[in-house]
Amino acid sequence: MAEFHKAAKTTDLEPGAIICVDVAGTRVALYNLDGEFYATSPSCTHIEADLSDGYIEDDEVVCPLHFASFNIKTGETTGPPADEDLTTYPVRVHGDDIEVEI
Ligand code: FES
Repeated sequence: MAEFHKAAKTTDLEPGAIICVDVAGTRVALYNLDGEFYATSPSCTHIEADLSDGYIEDDEVVCPLHFASFNIKTGETTGPPADEDLTTYPVRVHGDDIEVEI
């Protein structure tokens, strides 16, 4: 059964930042999009580059290796060469904690 688990502090993630963290044994990428937090699977679906090494452009994360892009809110692939979407996870803020439902 999915439950919310603490993933990070809100102060760990400045606007525009991406970090990868382990949440209840699952690795996720966490994003701060203008003060709203989102979580996806951590690796590009092309050949598994770590998305926390990439960068945010508007609502998309751009892969550091071959520049595939994904919508951070929906996980949808928005640019080649990746052709599979990311998994997304529900996120909530509880006090100073960012919590992810896994
Ligand atoms: S590993 Fe991300 S585009 Fe190739």
